[in-house]
Amino acid sequence: MRQAGRYMPEYRKLRERYDILEMIKTPELACEVTLQPMNAFDLDAAIIFADILTALEAMGLQLSFEKGEGPVIHNPVRSLADVERLGTPAPEEALGFTLQAIRLARRELDSRGLPLIGFSGGPYTLACYAIEGGSSKTHRRVKQMMMSAPEIWHALMTRLSEVSGEYLLAQARAGAQALQVFDSWAGELNVDDYRRYVLPYSQRTIEIAKTGGVPLIHFAVNNSHLLEAMRVAGGDVLGVDWRINLDTAWNRIGNQWAVQGNLDPVALFCDWETLEQRTRDVLMQADGRIGHIFNLGHGILPETPVDNVRRLVELVHETTSSVVRSPSSETTENG
Ligand code: CP3
Repeated sequence: MRQAGRYMPEYRKLRERYDILEMIKTPELACEVTLQPMNAFDLDAAIIFADILTALEAMGLQLSFEKGEGPVIHNPVRSLADVERLGTPAPEEALGFTLQAIRLARRELDSRGLPLIGFSGGPYTLACYAIEGGSSKTHRRVKQMMMSAPEIWHALMTRLSEVSGEYLLAQARAGAQALQVFDSWAGELNVDDYRRYVLPYSQRTIEIAKTGGVPLIHFAVNNSHLLEAMRVAGGDVLGVDWRINLDTAWNRIGNQWAVQGNLDPVALFCDWETLEQRTRDVLMQADGRIGHIFNLGHGILPETPVDNVRRLVELVHETTSSVVRSPSSETTENG
């Protein structure tokens, strides 16, 4: 999930001087922001500072981040002609700044023995922004196109899945040691629509990405009704949010999968006893399985108390270190 961001004073300080897209497109700055949470907390992996929406910009959509409004696409996709105008550029040409940031960050992280995660948006989530032109509560336009204009939909999703897959593959080649597909808003769909209109494209993205030979995490918010379908898309790790118990999710998808999640980011705003209890609940459900990646269920929120983040990381490490180190524990069977 987002590790860098507005809750960190170091990040806000840089943001006073630079626009977010400027930071993403300057490899030295992107590398610096990637390392900010790594310097502040004892985290186990870094995620490259970028955004899922730069891939849309690379395809010819005009992107800006407006204050108080979030991302805006100024020429959204509404017709087949709009889809046909979209480019499918080589990532090295159009998104080379992030590939370069990955190379820079790897140099720093290697000396600390820490891995780096690359990421891309999943096809449905990219389609949301491409069609809606920004964030949307109802997904009216994107679902309307999906339901009533399948030829436009399939043409768009074909392009998005290729671009997303190639971008992930390029990140693995540049040095990302794991990849994450953020299909954040796919949980908005019922399972039949997901299987019919999204799954084949997510499968394609993941198929291309997996030729990079690194582990892949597939995540969507509110995905408890989609777990079995998302499993079909491929990958190694399924990311879930707090709406489903970790053990329930695991029992449904099977122990050959790793699971990432799922503390409610709001728990970080609570008093320490509450946060501690909720963290222990998540760890209890994971039950020491070695395939558990402790994480928040979704991105860290602005104004999250930094000290709680630090204490949370310490608590997770204290609680899990004995489990991971014990060779005879049940965890090996489950893993
Ligand atoms: O953890 C990290 O630092 C990695 C960097 C990262 C960002 N965006 C930087 C960013 C990652 C992994 C993302 C993913 C992303 N971006 C997603 C998928 C994950 C999720 O949240 O479900 C989505 C949907 C986006 C699109 C996006 N980018 C939105 C909707 C916004 C606005 C959010 C808001 O609350 O205003 C962004 C902006 C953005 N991307 C920020 C960061 C750190 C906000 C900080 C800022 O304005 O400076």
